[in-house]
Amino acid sequence: MKAMIVVGGFWGDEGKGKIVAYLAQKERVAIVARGGVGPNAGHTVAAGGEKHGVRMIPSGYVCRDARLLIGAGVLVNPEILMNEVNMLGVGNRVGVDERCSVIEERHITYDKENTFMSSKIGTTGTGCGPANADRDIASLKPFLTDVPVEVNEALDKNRSVVLEGTQGFGISLYYGSYPYVTSKDTTASQIAADVGIGPTRVGDVIIVFKAFPTRVGAGPFETEMSEEEAKKLGIEEYGTVTGRKRRIGRWDGKFARYSAMLNGATQCAITGLDKLDPSCNGVKEYDKLSEKVKNFVKQAEKDVGVAFTLLSTGPDVLEIVDLRG
Ligand code: GTP
Ligand code: IMP
Ligand code: MG
Repeated sequence: MKAMIVVGGFWGDEGKGKIVAYLAQKERVAIVARGGVGPNAGHTVAAGGEKHGVRMIPSGYVCRDARLLIGAGVLVNPEILMNEVNMLGVGNRVGVDERCSVIEERHITYDKENTFMSSKIGTTGTGCGPANADRDIASLKPFLTDVPVEVNEALDKNRSVVLEGTQGFGISLYYGSYPYVTSKDTTASQIAADVGIGPTRVGDVIIVFKAFPTRVGAGPFETEMSEEEAKKLGIEEYGTVTGRKRRIGRWDGKFARYSAMLNGATQCAITGLDKLDPSCNGVKEYDKLSEKVKNFVKQAEKDVGVAFTLLSTGPDVLEIVDLRG
């Protein structure tokens, strides 16, 4: 069996949490392993009438039997982790790699008080940047495990594994708009490295886009629209972690194509189609989508050159058109 990786194609907050939760539930996966930076990411999962913004636990928690692993590359804030473990009641399923680094109070203070980081870059203030520059040894004994062993052995046994990326291509330390970036790479290769699997063990890379891309914090955003325009369209958004207003833009096909290339995307998911045409809210069948949405997806597919197989029509995990064969 090969692992599937889910990554963000724009500047984060594309709805990776929703897509991972859907895939985990639908495929009854054995493992969902989280890569990425750390608790600066917030993944929103709306399922069964409950909504949570998870910052440490993988979004696949909605799949009741899945092991929920956090890879060695991910920074752990023990307080946030424990709060989520208790809130979701998933303590018996969580595994944190024994090599994870822990975010300490001093990292958070530095992130918030350093004017360059907080004002110029507009960081999330969660201490991720400083902790990544100052790695330390983890102390989360009850959960410690060897994540690469668990993931590789599950694949050997033909069990399905989803790797959950965080952030988005546009804020990658390497490929994003430096210095307005997060503290490491965010592409699929990095997510594989974060949880300890080699490229030969990856099957699908699903890149998540949103109909109206968003960006939080400073940095270039070519297709950005004015706040008034976003308000008129009724598509304003607020950050899951910081509550900041997200900057909103229009579809950028050129950027999406470049992003898909560097991620080696095999399939594309797109969220927020209901924002393009509210009549499509909650639609689950392709034929019931409006011509406007169908044409948008066809054009996006042409722009990127990779099939759009998951079309999200609302925040709930079940509000989706699944075109995977
Ligand atoms: P990061 O790892 O922080 O980049 O987050 P993410 O990609 O998991 O996305 P996040 O949950 O921060 O933001 C996505 C927002 O869009 C959330 O509020 C979701 O509930 C919402 N969402 C996801 N899919 C859809 C959709 O198809 N339609 C609408 N209207 N909202 C959606
Ligand atoms: P840091 O990752 O907190 O150091 O913030 C650096 C930049 O990345 C800032 O512009 C943040 O707004 C942005 N950023 C970090 N994590 C996320 C995320 O999960 N979604 C969206 N933007 C993010
Ligand atoms: Mg988010």
